[in-house]
Amino acid sequence: MYLNHLIKLPTTSKMILLGIESSCDETAAALLANGRNVLASVINSQIDVHARYGGVVPELASRQHVRNILPVVRETLDQAGITLDQVDGIVVTQGPGLVGCLLVGFSFAKAVSLVRRIPMLGVDHLAGHLLSVFLGDDPPEFPFVAMVASGGHTSLFKVTSHTQFQLVGRTRDDAAGEAFDKVAKLLGLGYPGGPVISRLASDGDCEKIQFPRARLGPGSLDFSFSGLKTAVANHIHKTTEHGESLNIPDVCASFQEAVVDVICEKSLEAARMNQCDQIVLAGGVAANPRLRLRLKEQGTQQGISVHPAPLSYCTDNAAMIAYAGANNFLARAAIAPESDVYSRSPILTWS
Ligand code: KG4
Ligand code: ZN
Repeated sequence: MYLNHLIKLPTTSKMILLGIESSCDETAAALLANGRNVLASVINSQIDVHARYGGVVPELASRQHVRNILPVVRETLDQAGITLDQVDGIVVTQGPGLVGCLLVGFSFAKAVSLVRRIPMLGVDHLAGHLLSVFLGDDPPEFPFVAMVASGGHTSLFKVTSHTQFQLVGRTRDDAAGEAFDKVAKLLGLGYPGGPVISRLASDGDCEKIQFPRARLGPGSLDFSFSGLKTAVANHIHKTTEHGESLNIPDVCASFQEAVVDVICEKSLEAARMNQCDQIVLAGGVAANPRLRLRLKEQGTQQGISVHPAPLSYCTDNAAMIAYAGANNFLARAAIAPESDVYSRSPILTWS
């Protein structure tokens, strides 16, 4: 049941959209004007809560969202100098993610939508990531290939419009960000692993240890990172067993290079196979400086332009969520009391 008769749909193109994101361990809100200008973007990260466990604890994450959602939305409105009366629409992450976490943001959005009669729209978290590049100064043109590498996903899409995404490759086991997090845990470096590994890697030798690159056969656009993680575990075990000291920067650099090599190869191959001359790099792992550099270099050599998402919108944020709903907000928005979240993305299916 959609209560469309309750909606006061905005008539001008000058819509102000409130974005809300709570799919994992960031409670985030943002205000987006004219479908593109970020007026404010507030992110409350729960890293301190989960760090001691070496990864996200779902129940703790949900509870943090319950505590944080209202202050984060208030702070966003305050920063932008906007009141809720001026908000024309709400765009919220509907999935995929941790269900308990998604439910907090989604129920909050639904409550505000119903009470204030503001139309709302649920969008896919992965769509948010792969469109986040449009919030920067170097947007691509459609069609393009998008590599989304995050803590939960490593997926390649052919993107033909703001709403048409065709899955062309994905990980068969761990996500790239998950591999960074697990290797950091093995090395005792804390959570999240990506930022600390990339920092230490800059002092290491990436050719020191030959870690495996899973290519999964010619023409395959799928990924596998679990063998790489095991190889790092074996290396740590063997080194310490022989009483030798572990060169952590070298392990970080060699591991990172293995991930970067595979992501670059598969992204470029996906572009060639799908006749695209542009690649978008998005998701938390896209914040990795070595990956941004190597993919740009290799793309240039092959006549493919590489568009990394702006650094501030690589990891989870609500500006990308608002943007993902902005382009066809008027066509799709509603007030839907019975709508629900989902844990698995419908765009992650083969067409
Ligand atoms: O997109 P994101 O914030 O959340 C998910 O949707 O999963 O991605 C978080 C992931 C974590 O696994 C984190 O270790 C990784 O992104 N990450 C990085 C870097 N910064 C964050 N991985 C490699 N290098 C980085 N600089
Ligand atoms: Zn994400």
